[in-house]
Amino acid sequence: DIATLGLYGLGTMGSALALNILEKGFGLHVSNRSDDVVDAFRDEAEQAGLADALSPHHDLEAMVRQMPAPRAIILMVPAGGPVDATIERLMPLLDKGDTIIDAGNGDFNDTRRRTRSVEAAGLTYIGMGVSGGEEGARNGPSIMVGGTTDAWTAIRPVIEAISAKYEGQPCAAHLGPDGAGHFVKTVHNGIEYADMQMIAEIYGLMRYGMDQPPGAIGRTFETWDNGSLKSYLVEITGKVLQAEDAPGVPAVDAILDMAGQKGTGRWTVIEAVKMGQSATTVEAAVAARSWSAEKPLRETGEALFDSEPDPVNLTEAQMEQALLAGRIIAYAQGFRILLAASEEFEWSLDPARIAEIWRAGCIIRSALLDDIAEAFRGAPPHDQLIFAPAFKPMLKDSLTALRSVVARAMEAGHPVPALAAALGFLDTMTRARGTTDLIQAQRDFFGMHGFERVDGGKDRHGPWWR
Ligand code: 6PG
Repeated sequence: DIATLGLYGLGTMGSALALNILEKGFGLHVSNRSDDVVDAFRDEAEQAGLADALSPHHDLEAMVRQMPAPRAIILMVPAGGPVDATIERLMPLLDKGDTIIDAGNGDFNDTRRRTRSVEAAGLTYIGMGVSGGEEGARNGPSIMVGGTTDAWTAIRPVIEAISAKYEGQPCAAHLGPDGAGHFVKTVHNGIEYADMQMIAEIYGLMRYGMDQPPGAIGRTFETWDNGSLKSYLVEITGKVLQAEDAPGVPAVDAILDMAGQKGTGRWTVIEAVKMGQSATTVEAAVAARSWSAEKPLRETGEALFDSEPDPVNLTEAQMEQALLAGRIIAYAQGFRILLAASEEFEWSLDPARIAEIWRAGCIIRSALLDDIAEAFRGAPPHDQLIFAPAFKPMLKDSLTALRSVVARAMEAGHPVPALAAALGFLDTMTRARGTTDLIQAQRDFFGMHGFERVDGGKDRHGPWWR
């Protein structure tokens, strides 16, 4: 059990989560690298009437000293080096039975390594994915926990109390040991990247191919948010596109078209490839962000190629359906990676449970997740979401639209890398005989790699070696 709870790192997410914990009636010790932030947080908590159970401290050492054991300390510091540095400072201060919880976006490989070294010292380590941005952290995020069952049992009351609720049920779960929570959060972000990119591609087509102003496109997204695309990302896209930077100037037009990325999308792609999987929709989204960052190169390219995309003749209904198909495929790729990792690392991840805890609080929350949870409860063929009985008809209808949207966009010169990747995946996975017979022949021709024959012969060679 836990006697005292602490939180270190009062940045945007850390302070929002701390207020959430206090509001749910738990005592909380807090501290931060610079102490003016601690004072500002104490004032904020006082103003919110949440300071009664708050114990602010001006440094980490003082905080730990004044916390009776067994303690649980939540780290809300930037991923990577700062987490390692904080753990190093904490270890000599803590007693056996204390728990360190990394609630940032950790690389699950780091989480596994830290779990081993922290637990070798008799302490407990939890890697915890928290999704929902500042608003979620303050009012209820979706929480993905990795660690031992005992560790989960000890923190469960706090985690369930602060998490988002879907029809009264907490959107928080113990998903597996060590890195499982951070892995699931990483793939959540990978799907987030793919979904955001496909939304941006549809926006690009409506804006530059159908000559619609951002405000009008925003209103269309607002309407879509009442249908099968209902989701947080479609909702905020509607709001963002209707916002103005100055009267008559769309907010998006004041923003440089160079996207940042902190790593979770890239990690999803890397881990997928390492396991012999491929998340092409996520790859396309990561690539699109990287390409966007090369603004001067794109400016040179536009001048050299004198490129001006042509109008596209598509309807809003086709766009809506195409986005739905793309979204289903992105989720399917994301869940495929989760299940591959579950096998690889022996985590026994429950895809239905993961879909359930993503239904509220997190960035990718969408109406579709309820159907996804149900589909996985029904064990679809080969664990593939796209083959689930409920999804097959949905995809059959929306696929025609995705095909038209991708085809017309490509003819007219509008980049749609993520939507095209989604289509390429589906068209590959729905053909029993593909074209890698030729790849095998080429490998054998130049390297005598051998191949399997359709009649069952193994490690055979082609006539070019006779
Ligand atoms: C969430 C978000 C959150 C954060 C990511 C975004 O689930 O609440 O995903 O974790 O916004 O860091 O990643 P990028 O900064 O790489 O876009």
